[in-house]
Amino acid sequence: MASFVSLTPSRVWKSAPSLRPVSHCSRWLQHQAHSAKRSPLAFAFDIDGVLIRGPSALPAAQRALKLLEGANPLGVKIPYILITNGGGESEDARCRKLTKLLQVDIKPTQYIQAHTILKSVVDKYADEPVLVLGGVNDTIRKVAEGYGFKRAYTTLDVLAWNPAVWPFHTLSESERASTKVLKRCSDLPHHSPQVDFSKTPIRAILVFHDPRNWALDVQVIYDVIMSRGIIGAPYIHPNEYASSPKIDLVFCNPDLVWRSDFARPRLGQGAFREAFQAVFKSFTGTTYPYIQYGKPTKATYDFATQVLTDRLAEIQGGPVHEAPSVYMVGDNPESDIVGANAAGWNSILVRTGVYDPEAGPPKHKPTMEVEDVEEAVKWAIDREMQKLRS
Ligand code: G3P
Ligand code: MG
Repeated sequence: MASFVSLTPSRVWKSAPSLRPVSHCSRWLQHQAHSAKRSPLAFAFDIDGVLIRGPSALPAAQRALKLLEGANPLGVKIPYILITNGGGESEDARCRKLTKLLQVDIKPTQYIQAHTILKSVVDKYADEPVLVLGGVNDTIRKVAEGYGFKRAYTTLDVLAWNPAVWPFHTLSESERASTKVLKRCSDLPHHSPQVDFSKTPIRAILVFHDPRNWALDVQVIYDVIMSRGIIGAPYIHPNEYASSPKIDLVFCNPDLVWRSDFARPRLGQGAFREAFQAVFKSFTGTTYPYIQYGKPTKATYDFATQVLTDRLAEIQGGPVHEAPSVYMVGDNPESDIVGANAAGWNSILVRTGVYDPEAGPPKHKPTMEVEDVEEAVKWAIDREMQKLRS
């Protein structure tokens, strides 16, 4: 019975499919999984600081994702989704890039980015003029239009409409080319009105992705709010502010910092939000109410749970009767770990991103802390095999 003595991780991985001759015990476990035609676990992976850093994939990422394709002791495909607070382009475009970078096929049905959840609120604003922020030039407008927002404008549109809105930035050629505005009537040789912000009441401000020009964006958000949506119109009197109807302000990513390929974490969209609120408070004495999406919000984890359930049904070819154990692998305790814990998932914290063990224990306790995503995947599979065995 030697082969049953213990299922130490090393023995299991030594006997994983296509790595070594299959031991009696692993064959039994594989049979378990196979007969159940389902994996006892599923993963949700964060991206920045877990799978990639800046423009490059982390080596452990490609190895980890390959294990999920079937080369694991369970001998089954292990389902997974990707949940990032990043964004800035369409889900399709990002999945094509990630597929190339990670060398595994990443489908839009298994991918959630910070602003994907806005698909669920389009109806509220579909025909309304909205300001969309973040990303380069008009990439975010195109994403918003792809979601169904029919009148989405950027802060570059506002600056092209009237450069005096922010005199400290002159539009570059590519920025100007990306705008869809009506220069002041008198400026246009031929008349192709697209928008005149002095006649276009902005109903909502949607910060999809990390803004590129914080100063311009803070100015325009402040103008829209204080002028009740009509840029350039008189500001709300401070005494009226509390009673006046509020323009919806939505942020899709609360991260103060995130990990790219620089040695230290970089300021994120959450830092932009705080910068705006600091300016707003210096004028009004209060911060402006806003709707927050993105990890760790419940809205985003509920959205992710639905995406994962649909993905499982897609893989299993039918409704999911028994939910697998879900493992969230993340590098940021403030977004990945606290959110997964609150969603009742298992959470694994890696040391390849924002979280720095030198800086002391994480603010939110994960189920497990490991070096990188490959170790995370192996640890979770071992744990589920222990459960299957017991
Ligand atoms: O801008 C993206 C960043 O805030 C974090 O991305 O993939 O670590 O959730 P991610
Ligand atoms: Mg991350």
